[in-house]
Amino acid sequence: MEMEMEKSVQALASATLLSGTLPAEFIRPLAEQPTATTRHYGPVSMIPTVDLSETDQEKLVQAISEACGTWGTFQLVNHGIPPEAINRLQSVGREFFELSSPKEKEECSDKAPAGGSRSVGGYGRQVREDADGKKVWSDHLFHKIWPPSSINYQFWPKNPPSYREANEEYAVYLREASDKVLKLMSLGLGLEENALGEALGGEQLQYNLKINYYPPCPRPDLVLGLVAHRDLSAITVLVPNEVPGLQVLKDDQWIEVEYIPNSLIVHVGDQIEILSNGKYRSVLHRVTVKKDRLRMSWPVFLEPPAELVVGPLPQLINDQDPAKYKPQKFKDYMFSKLNKLPE
Ligand code: OGA
Ligand code: NI
Repeated sequence: MEMEMEKSVQALASATLLSGTLPAEFIRPLAEQPTATTRHYGPVSMIPTVDLSETDQEKLVQAISEACGTWGTFQLVNHGIPPEAINRLQSVGREFFELSSPKEKEECSDKAPAGGSRSVGGYGRQVREDADGKKVWSDHLFHKIWPPSSINYQFWPKNPPSYREANEEYAVYLREASDKVLKLMSLGLGLEENALGEALGGEQLQYNLKINYYPPCPRPDLVLGLVAHRDLSAITVLVPNEVPGLQVLKDDQWIEVEYIPNSLIVHVGDQIEILSNGKYRSVLHRVTVKKDRLRMSWPVFLEPPAELVVGPLPQLINDQDPAKYKPQKFKDYMFSKLNKLPE
């Protein structure tokens, strides 16, 4: 038996624009509504920037470790990924969402039977609703882009035909840039440069791409594109489009991440917080949407292989600084978090 596809938010958005009424299941409780809770909208350059072309290594390490320790996020500029490669990734992704038929989209969705074991892959809506039954204003597509042995092409769109090439090209560049980031993050912890990469599985590190599609919404003041969360990943490297909407929590205030052309947004995720024994912070973030502009984003979640045990690095714990997290397999961590069990 195949699972009935729930109507996409993309389809709902068109219907909503016509009728002008927002389905009630999207309306957030007051404490979450964007306009009631956002402190800093607009182009305030508050999020730290890390410039990979900086030749003074010490300065670069300092900048990255400070960003990871205070904000848990930064804008990565001069990262070496050609803008053309990023543009191709974006246009094939946008074409998939806008030009393929519902049937073609469904072909990229996870067809596991309801109640069966469901891998997090393919096209769809957020699997779980919030505890209060509320829904988020977004659709997504999820698939691995590296290593080749872990890729399931069932989840990759067949259309446009250049989808595969554009994604494979981006994966090669992204690995180079994220390798540099992980090295700098290791040095920033006073470790040898390969320490974090190796603790995350070395060549087995998984690169999981998500495309987020946030259609325009008649009542952006009442909904969220994604609710507040921390990423499960080690780090997340995100390509945004030109429409802002991502917000991060800093000192109890929601702050909008400004759009900087050609920059990538890097988040510290839970696995790096654990490995660093809390020296680097997994950033709490959420997404707001716009009334008449489409936001899209292309985060890649860098994750350890499922069976790998992740715990605070032994080099970072001692009597003064005891381990704050219990070591566990990444798959068990993921299961507890997705099912909201105590970690
Ligand atoms: C996510 C996420 C942010 C964005 O997909 O986990 O936080 O800007 N996305 O789309
Ligand atoms: Ni996220």
